[in-house]
Amino acid sequence: MALVRVASVEDIASGTGRMVQAGEVAIALFNIGGTFYAIDNRCTHVGGPLGQGRLSENVVTCPWHGSRFDVTTGQVIGPPARRPVQMYETRVQDGAVFVEIP
Ligand code: FES
Repeated sequence: MALVRVASVEDIASGTGRMVQAGEVAIALFNIGGTFYAIDNRCTHVGGPLGQGRLSENVVTCPWHGSRFDVTTGQVIGPPARRPVQMYETRVQDGAVFVEIP
């Protein structure tokens, strides 16, 4: 388990997200009302970049074919994806966002 610094808190405004890199792992990091959520950047349909998806409340829409995921749980909200995305624990410390990589 490694705790990796992936962003500054001010890099990601509330209500938005983006792709960040934690070592080898590409992560989609979202800020919802000051709480950060991290999921795998790769959509479980065919690998679309979820960090580039549109965030509406707690749901991100994959930019490739429109699958929707709850970024607070990783669960699929809308097809064509059928499998949830992996979630990662986040931590905020001294103005920085950290993600736990297993
Ligand atoms: S790759 Fe995400 S919906 Fe197809």
